[in-house]
Amino acid sequence: MGTKIIGTGCYTPERVLTNHDLEKMVDTSDEWIRTRTGIEERHIAADGESASDMAYPACIRALEASGTSPDEIGMIIVATVCPDYPFPSTACVLQRKLKVSPGAICLDMQAACSGFIYALDIVNSMVKTHPSLKKALVVGVEKITMLTDWEDRNTCVLFGDGAGAVVLEARRDSQDGGGIVASKLSADGNFTDILMVKAGGSAMPLTKEVMDQRLQYIRMEGQEVFKQAVNAMVGACKEVLQEAGVTSSEIRWLIPHQANRRIIEAVGKRLNLTEENVFINVSRYGNTSAASIAIALDEIARGGKVERGEYLLLTAFGAGLTWGATLLRW
Ligand SMILES: CC(C)(COP(=O)(O)OP(=O)(O)OC[C@H]1O[C@@H](n2cnc3c(N)ncnc32)[C@H](O)[C@@H]1OP(=O)(O)O)[C@@H](O)C(=O)NCCC(=O)NCCS
Repeated sequence: MGTKIIGTGCYTPERVLTNHDLEKMVDTSDEWIRTRTGIEERHIAADGESASDMAYPACIRALEASGTSPDEIGMIIVATVCPDYPFPSTACVLQRKLKVSPGAICLDMQAACSGFIYALDIVNSMVKTHPSLKKALVVGVEKITMLTDWEDRNTCVLFGDGAGAVVLEARRDSQDGGGIVASKLSADGNFTDILMVKAGGSAMPLTKEVMDQRLQYIRMEGQEVFKQAVNAMVGACKEVLQEAGVTSSEIRWLIPHQANRRIIEAVGKRLNLTEENVFINVSRYGNTSAASIAIALDEIARGGKVERGEYLLLTAFGAGLTWGATLLRW
C-alpha cells in the first residue's frame, strides 16, 4: 500500500529578473553568478501575488493532468516557508479557491527547501492510516523573494518564486508497480544558525529596530551550507537506494533540489550518475525552495522525459538543516 503521482503542474510568475538586472542592483556580475551557481534568471512574484495565488494554477494543472476533479481530493498539504497568513493555513485557503470538498485534511508544513519531499512522505504514510483517503494534492510553493535582502549580494542572486503540485493517488494493490518505493527524511537542528530568517516569528517579532538591522531577511553561511548539502543528499540517496535494492545505474533521473548547479553536479558525481541522468533547471528559476522539485517533476512529466516503470530519485536539503531522498517508480 502506498501512493503514486498521477498528475503534475507548475506555475512561475510572469516577471523575470536576469543576472544582468541584478548587476544594476548590487555589486555582482552575470559571470560570477553563472559560474558560482549556474543561475541565469529567476521569476519574481508580483507584489500582491500570494503563495496560494501561485499554488492555485499549479494545482489546477495537476488536477487536469491526472483527470481528477477537486471533489475527489481528500487532502491538501502545502510545503512552504511563505504562507499566505500565519493562520489559517495556505492549504485551507487553497481548499476554498479550488473548491475542494469540506472534510478534506488540509495543512501546511515547513521543512524549508526539503518541504516537498517531506510532504510526499507524509501523504504516503497517511494513506495507510486513513483508508478513505484516495487522492491528495501535494504542493510546494514559495514567495521566497519576500524574504530576500535585495541589498545582500551573497543571497539575493540565489532565489526565485514559483509553485509546483502533484496529485498523489493511494494504491492499495500492486497494479502497475509504480509509486513511492522508499523514502528517507532527516534533520539536524544543530545547524539552525547557518541558514535562517531570524525575525518575524515569536522568537523575534518584527519591530522597527529589528527591521533596521534587516533581520527579517535570509542570512546564510554559503560555504558551510554547500558542504553539508552535498554530504547530506548523497547519504540520503544511498540509503534509499540500498533500502530499495536499486542501483544508481537504474536511475533515469536524479531530481535534486535546485539550489546551485555545483552542488547538484557534486551529488550526481558522487552517486556515479552521468549528466544525462541529473535533472537541472536552476538556470531558469534559481532556488525556489520547496517548489523546486515539484517544478522539475512537472517539466519532466510534461516534457515526456520519463517512461512508465522508470526510477526517479528525488533529493533535497534546506534550512534546519533538513534533508532527505525519495525513490519513485513512474
Ligand atoms: C553562496 C555561494 C554561491 C557562494 O559561492 P562561494 O564560492 O562559496 O563564494 P564565497 O562565499 O567564498 O565568496 C567568494 C567571494 O565572492 C563574493 N561574493 C558573494 N556573492 C557575490 C555576488 N553575488 N557577486 C559577486 N561576488 C560575490 C564574496 O563576498 C567573496 O568575496 P571576498 O573573497 O572578497 O570576501 C555558495 O557558497 C553556495 O551556493 N552555497 C550554498 C547555498 C545554498 O544552496 N543555499 C540554499 C540552501 S537551500
